[in-house]
Amino acid sequence: MRSFVVVGNLATTTPDFSLEDIPGTSGRIDILCRCINSAFVLSHGIRRDVDAYLILRGGGAAKTIHLRGRDLRHLNPDERTTAALLKKALALEAESRWTKSTPGIFVRAGDLADLSIFRGGTTYYLREDGSDHRGLPLARDGTFVLGDHIGLSEADEAILAGLGAEIVSVGPKSLHADHCIVLINNELDRREVPSHPAGGRERRTNGDE
Ligand SMILES: C[S@@+](CC[C@H](N)C(=O)[O-])C[C@H]1O[C@@H](n2cnc3c(N)ncnc32)[C@H](O)[C@@H]1O
Repeated sequence: MRSFVVVGNLATTTPDFSLEDIPGTSGRIDILCRCINSAFVLSHGIRRDVDAYLILRGGGAAKTIHLRGRDLRHLNPDERTTAALLKKALALEAESRWTKSTPGIFVRAGDLADLSIFRGGTTYYLREDGSDHRGLPLARDGTFVLGDHIGLSEADEAILAGLGAEIVSVGPKSLHADHCIVLINNELDRREVPSHPAGGRERRTNGDE
């Protein structure tokens, strides 16, 4: 299972934000919504082999929202629908165990340090000055950790260093987190279908073939 973890440093832990002004009222949950889109949404479907974890730190104790591609329903490409799903999850009582919100979406209390998915797998910390991902043997079931517009703190970096995370770059320019996710998904897709001329591009038939 391919996993993405995105840290929302200011992302609100309550459902009290407006779907009419997501960036201005939610501590930039719009960034997390775009990351979800990039992690899961295909032209005609959802990536079922992806998991995403959002760390929300904007108020009180941190919460984590888990989106499980295998079971995810009601996810549309637009930010508003995604934000509405997160709002629903944030309205639930967050405890130390996962609580189901809607199909494929779970919430619990906890921060980056509490994520058990790091155990046993390969962790990659996406950072501009890391090693070029194209030259690396990326694990198919790796966990990729990204920051939001603020990035990761020194304390976060210490946690990742303790996990032995490899620091990986997707290119020479600083990109939006959601664009980095697209690039990682694309790179892993290509590696999974190496014999295809386009390195994994799906073809659509038009009836003439
Ligand atoms: C908009 S950037 C954060 C910029 C923030 N001002 C900083 O200094 O960290 C959002 C996140 O995308 C990831 N990122 C952006 N560009 C990247 C690159 N070229 N390679 C790897 N990760 C990148 C990092 O995880 C970063 O925390």
